Amino acid sequence: MEEALHERCCHSDGASKLNDAAVADLLEFLRIDVELEPAASADREQTSCSKNVTRKQRNWERRLEVKRRKRKEEKQRKKLNRLNKDVNELQLSKRVIKAVTKERLEEARAAGLRLCVDLSMTDRLTDKEISRLAGQIRRLYGSNKKSLQPFHVFLTEFREDSLLYKECVRMNDGFLNYLIDVTEESWFHLFPSEDVIYLTPDASEALEYVEEDKVYILGGLVDETIQKKISFTRAKEFGIRMARLPIDEYMVKKPNPKNFHSKILAINQVFEILLTFRDTKDWTKALAAGIPPGKGYMLASAASTDVTNSQEEL
Ligand SMILES: C[S@@+](CC[C@H](N)C(=O)[O-])C[C@H]1O[C@@H](n2cnc3c(N)ncnc32)[C@H](O)[C@@H]1O
Repeated sequence: MEEALHERCCHSDGASKLNDAAVADLLEFLRIDVELEPAASADREQTSCSKNVTRKQRNWERRLEVKRRKRKEEKQRKKLNRLNKDVNELQLSKRVIKAVTKERLEEARAAGLRLCVDLSMTDRLTDKEISRLAGQIRRLYGSNKKSLQPFHVFLTEFREDSLLYKECVRMNDGFLNYLIDVTEESWFHLFPSEDVIYLTPDASEALEYVEEDKVYILGGLVDETIQKKISFTRAKEFGIRMARLPIDEYMVKKPNPKNFHSKILAINQVFEILLTFRDTKDWTKALAAGIPPGKGYMLASAASTDVTNSQEEL
């Protein structure tokens, strides 16, 4: 290439003659240029190569991102499926529980142990007490629904035009569909008197058992304003057997700041005790389940354990 340039420069038309130094300069210049060329192309190659790498990297990151998103979506889909399954199972088990409860209550209505709430004395209650009685009927029914062996529940002398009826419908969801017997008749006309045991806190006889062939009567009363012996008097009028819960036999007074002790319970509490006794045949368990601590009584067995413990501590 040097020779060719030399020839072209030195023999072209003879118009201008370049001397050796000039040629050398030019060549030097060209050499630099020639030397520079591979470096620039290497740079370009490197640039295009790094562009490729960046592009590939971006593609790879995009694919990774898509994969990540898909995995997340799949996870969420599975979670949703699981949740739907749980909800379905829950709804199914709720339906099953409802069906089983209904069956039990219907069986109880056909052949269960009978319990009656005597609503003949509601004229002695204030409006506030009537509302409380409606609430207690709801709780009583709720406990019966949960029981494995429900009672056949009767509400006797219950008039549809009464305030209690209105309150039951207003306060108790589904009251009109309760699986119980509601009647305007008196328990006295419904059951043979020898089968009936009227439960009253004023009876001298303590209840020993809950017998399957008896009918237990609870007085539909609320003691906001304490009126003593109403249910006792009512049972006596009819010459009916009476019984109280065996609180004196299994419990003792618990010391408390107000020195308050009461053996008078709400109808739903008495009912809870009867249900538990029927299941366990154990009065300590039954009374412990139904008597709130606020009544100022404790199990005698627990009191003697307390005494033994404090003696041991001494
Ligand atoms: C709030 S009490 C009414 C107390 C009311 N002063 C009375 O004359 O009986 C409501 C009903 O629950 C029942 N009851 C409450 N405590 C009782 C107990 N210790 N033993 C037996 N029955 C009880 C009775 O049937 C009673 O009529």
